[in-house]
Amino acid sequence: MRLPSAPLEDWLRDYYFTAEIDISASGVQSYSMGEVRAITGTGHDEIDALVFDDGYSLGTPAVRAEIARRYGDGDPGKVMTSCGSGEAISLVMMSLLRPGDEVIVVAPGYHLLVDYVTALGCTAREWRLDAAQGFRPPLDDLAGLVNERTRAIVVNFPQNPTGVTVGEDDMRVLIEQARQVGAYLLWDAAFAELTYDRAPLPDISTRYERGIGFGTFSKAFGLPGLRFGWVIGPAEVLEDCMRIKDYTTLHVSPLIELLALGVLRHAGAFVEPRLKQAGVNREIVKDWAASIPELVALTPPDGGVSAFPRLLGVADTGDFCEELFQRHGVLVIPGSCFGGPGHIRLGFGGDTDELVTGLERLTTALTAWPRA
Ligand SMILES: Cc1ncc(COP(=O)(O)O)c(C=O)c1O
Repeated sequence: MRLPSAPLEDWLRDYYFTAEIDISASGVQSYSMGEVRAITGTGHDEIDALVFDDGYSLGTPAVRAEIARRYGDGDPGKVMTSCGSGEAISLVMMSLLRPGDEVIVVAPGYHLLVDYVTALGCTAREWRLDAAQGFRPPLDDLAGLVNERTRAIVVNFPQNPTGVTVGEDDMRVLIEQARQVGAYLLWDAAFAELTYDRAPLPDISTRYERGIGFGTFSKAFGLPGLRFGWVIGPAEVLEDCMRIKDYTTLHVSPLIELLALGVLRHAGAFVEPRLKQAGVNREIVKDWAASIPELVALTPPDGGVSAFPRLLGVADTGDFCEELFQRHGVLVIPGSCFGGPGHIRLGFGGDTDELVTGLERLTTALTAWPRA
């Protein structure tokens, strides 16, 4: 297996730590250790008492139980914890996919959900979201993509980078299509809690016997550096994942799982204030785009904290993003990192003042930028 480099990570690796104004991220504003301890009521004594033994391959039983109760059908046997959801997604793909399989992927999309599939030797069949159609998932196109060779359908709703999501009716259509050919339905639910005008979707594992759902603390919980995620799916798939994990990370650190248990038990206290802040910021982004229709075209995101505006008259935004960073101190992501070169990914989950300043500078830079 040979993985291509991930342009998104290359870009962030270079600029993430030095950005003056960061309006690029796909998660909400991060919490500090002090805030985690205060919200969860975890005392220093509890942390001091932790012994750094090895952990459980599939996750600490109490943590698995909490995830099963909160997101799954209550059965901890269907839960495995992981070092971020990225690890869980790659383990599941490695365990299920074989060269020659066909896999339906959403484009534009996050590199792990697209390039990992092809690196495993599978044929990725793109289910394309069209900017001209407001990125609405074209459910009618699915039937033309699914066939007997389809091993899995991989989706991520609410979606990175577009912010588009689907409803439960659409989820049912996806399940029907997958079930017809016995395909797995892998649902990256990284942004599940981050919806604005509708309730969060149920986890796919509670709706389809071959549904596999992925969750993470990196987005709605504001804890990307904790590196904690999970997968909920059939126990036999998790067994396979565990055997692959035996060659890599073995298990999640007991320190992370101690903190994770507290966070899960106080999930609302982490997510709700950040969702409220993101809701305010989302209006600011919508107003910003509406004020400069000659420069940008935006599909207002209905979930997550990222938007994918098109910069009008800019065929490939890479050079513009470079200039924006170097001359104006503002970090956004070139759309080419997601397979949409005329766009940029904007993150609006962070500090409101920083967002306002970032958008002002973005307008200044865009106004001066020569366009076709
Ligand atoms: C859609 C999506 N899925 C998964 C991940 C991986 O997140 P983590 O491994 O931090 O849980 C990311 C990270 O940006 C993402 O955007």
